[in-house]
Amino acid sequence: MAFQTNTGAWVLILSLGVVGSQNISARIGEPLVLTCKGAPRKPPQQLEWKLNTGRTEAWKILSPGENPWESVARVLPNGSLLLPAVGIQDEGTFRCKATNRHGKEFKSNYRLRVYQIPSKPKIVNSASELIAGIPNKVGTCLSEGGYPAGTLSWHLDGKALVPDGKGVSVREETRRHPDTGLFTIQSELTMTPVPGGPLNPTFSCSLSFSPSSPGQQALHAPPIQLSVWEPESLEEVRLVVDPEGGVVAPGGAVTLTCEVPAQHSPQIHWLKDGSPLAIAPSSVLLLPEITVQDQGIYSCVATDQSHRSRESPGVSISIIDSREIDQVEGSEGGPGLGLLALILIVLGGLVTAALLGGFLLWKRQRLLHKEERKVPECPEEEEERAELNQPEKEETAENNEGEP
Ligand SMILES: *[C@@H]1O[C@H](CO)[C@@H](O)[C@H](O)[C@H]1NC(C)=O
Ligand SMILES: *[C@@H]1O[C@H](CO)[C@@H](O)[C@H](O)[C@H]1NC(C)=O
Repeated sequence: MAFQTNTGAWVLILSLGVVGSQNISARIGEPLVLTCKGAPRKPPQQLEWKLNTGRTEAWKILSPGENPWESVARVLPNGSLLLPAVGIQDEGTFRCKATNRHGKEFKSNYRLRVYQIPSKPKIVNSASELIAGIPNKVGTCLSEGGYPAGTLSWHLDGKALVPDGKGVSVREETRRHPDTGLFTIQSELTMTPVPGGPLNPTFSCSLSFSPSSPGQQALHAPPIQLSVWEPESLEEVRLVVDPEGGVVAPGGAVTLTCEVPAQHSPQIHWLKDGSPLAIAPSSVLLLPEITVQDQGIYSCVATDQSHRSRESPGVSISIIDSREIDQVEGSEGGPGLGLLALILIVLGGLVTAALLGGFLLWKRQRLLHKEERKVPECPEEEEERAELNQPEKEETAENNEGEP
């Protein structure tokens, strides 16, 4: 253990000695002090700062006491270099060469990287739900005001989503603020949920930085949870009726079965004429003894775990009443019964006609007998009777002719 620690320390010393450079990072807008190794704490000092940054054309030399760059960088009385407010243009190399009181020369070498912590990334324009089997825009992850830009990455239920150009694709955009130079980056995720996959996936997005910017840790957007709708899973809600057609005699039984693809075990509710029936969810509805009140249009509604509902087509349940049964049976009895009825009607008519004829004949006979007895009571009546009797005489004659 001790050996390893010692080795580590030697490696560090060697790397500083050989490369001679120390990587440092500073947050934009904050002050930074760089120490000039070996420099005496107070003047007189033999030291010189050289810097090559975004602000300098080539190496710029700064010495103690000179302050041409007061607002950007200046040498402090103890020999350190102060940058009052670090900016993006201060990225670069800083070197100091100093001679201590014993005449020994020291060199310091710094590589400066600056950073700015962006606003916490967030997922905007997120979908309200996803449809399985087709590409869906999940949302856009957005991070503003960072430096350097960093990288946005998506996760689904904790696992990294790698763009593969098929099920997962990402469109990235990076913009730079014209004044501050800070980055706005966004990443739009499009993905095709696999049918039968998770119904409530959680998407998260994080912003990470390269290891060469040690000042920054990954930032995570608040995750979003979406529901996946599988259209084909509930589109096939069917209602099967036994007996087929849904027409039953009073007191008969009807069984309605709601058929839903089995994979998601949805809850089944029932509707009658569009209103929910107050019964426990079940895929089978039994109407044991049908009454008139049971007639109507029935349908079933399947609701899956993501609270998506699908209704089956409606099915009509109706009762055949007893008169309908007679009519149906009569017509089914066919021509035999009809003919019988016709014969009965015709016979009935004939009998009635015969009886009526007989009655009239009998009445006429009686009238004639009466006349014979009454004659003559009154001459006027006699005349009337003569008139009335004229056609009767003919008839009587005819009748007499018919008689042998
Ligand atoms: C400093 O960073 C550079 C790249 O920016 C790298 O090559 C070098 O090894 C780093 N030095 C140290 C001491 O970490
Ligand atoms: C030099 O002075 C500055 C400001 O007073 C201080 O921050 C820094 O630590 C000092 N450097 C050394 C090497 O003492």
